[in-house]
Amino acid sequence: MNERGSSVTVPGDKSISHRALMVAALAPGRSTIEGLPEAGDVRSTAAALVAMGVGIDWPEGSGRAVVAPPAEWPTASLRLDCGNSGTSARLLGGLIAGLGLSARIDGDPSLRSRPMDRVVYPLQAMGARISYAADHDRLPIDFDARASGGLRVLRYRSRISSAQVKSALVLAALAEGVEFEMWEPGKSRDHTERLLAHFGVPLRFGTEDKGAHLRLESEGRSGLKPLDLRIPGDPSSAAFLLGAAMLGDRDLTVDDVLLNPTRTGFLDALERMGAEVEIDVGEDRAGEPVGSVSVAPGRFHGVRIGADLIPGLVDEIPLLAVLAVHAVGVTEISGAAELRLKESDRLAALAENLKAVGASVEERADGLMIQGTPDLVPRGVVRTRGDHRIAMAFGALASIPGAEIVTDEPECVAVSYPTFWDDCAAVSASG
Ligand code: S3P
Repeated sequence: MNERGSSVTVPGDKSISHRALMVAALAPGRSTIEGLPEAGDVRSTAAALVAMGVGIDWPEGSGRAVVAPPAEWPTASLRLDCGNSGTSARLLGGLIAGLGLSARIDGDPSLRSRPMDRVVYPLQAMGARISYAADHDRLPIDFDARASGGLRVLRYRSRISSAQVKSALVLAALAEGVEFEMWEPGKSRDHTERLLAHFGVPLRFGTEDKGAHLRLESEGRSGLKPLDLRIPGDPSSAAFLLGAAMLGDRDLTVDDVLLNPTRTGFLDALERMGAEVEIDVGEDRAGEPVGSVSVAPGRFHGVRIGADLIPGLVDEIPLLAVLAVHAVGVTEISGAAELRLKESDRLAALAENLKAVGASVEERADGLMIQGTPDLVPRGVVRTRGDHRIAMAFGALASIPGAEIVTDEPECVAVSYPTFWDDCAAVSASG
């Protein structure tokens, strides 16, 4: 407990964890990564890397992995199962293409329904030989080992702001040893860039008038040093506990959490909703700002969230949507059609479930309009569609005193935050 109420920590950041494991697989010598979350998605990345010959010693529950690249990358055709994890499938696609390995990447039915052209097309433009094994734009996809020659230099102007696309291409170019340059319309999370720059890779990145830009030099990989890293808490996991505290009218501080500005858009949104949010930026860890975030009890109001803000809070829309139910006035979310392409169609899932618990919501092609009803005591059955962030959002909403919300597949939180239900219950019982 601190003077502002209870304080908690959350499991390590999932996005950084995927990247740390993959970059460590390319680095010379042994890397040590601490603070890994026991999340199914990160385990999917680790298992795929092990299938590629990477040495990963990550005892269950330890949060600590020692990673070593293989003496030789395998020549046999590999089968890589990415489970539910879009980040694993797309980023590993880049790595496989850059290493010139032969592999089939596949995933569970949810992942098989998600678009892959966004990474396949630019990788093909670099010269990778990739084909769809069944349906166009969908997993499974096959990578053919290239007989000779490598990937080409790519200067790529992306239509969408996607950290998964950007990171897949950077990893491909890094593994191959070719120059790479990219622009995206708005800045997506920049963990790959920060991690590589911190561990010795010559890479420049920043924001320009026309959006975000990055440039990797061809000799990138030769500068890469082994990683020695402690991963901070995941702000996307913290968001649900902070939301639960706000809906339960309690104080909460989350310590040791990642505060990278490309991930904290939801904190700005909370402030714009009139919530009392305190952000304390502390140390810089491996190029990433880390600190604590507190919320205090109090009323909050609706907010407008447009396309320009989406990249910075893309994973927190489900949480903001449930907060909107308890807010005074209307919340309007637009420019968020990408949410239909996540682990579920999140706009449809949110609309359906908000209605199911008694809230007033209108689903739009690219967003939602939610009429706040601060006195509503939500009751109903939530159909998560197996999507962890839908489950956790309604878990947070259940913190409203008197709420009775039954969730159909509570175990789906295991892909990112296996201890969510206990941690959320502890927040609701504290103060
Ligand atoms: C992620 C990027 C985002 C995000 C996902 C994780 C990442 O996806 O929604 O949960 O780690 O790169 P997009 O890059 O497709 O927007």
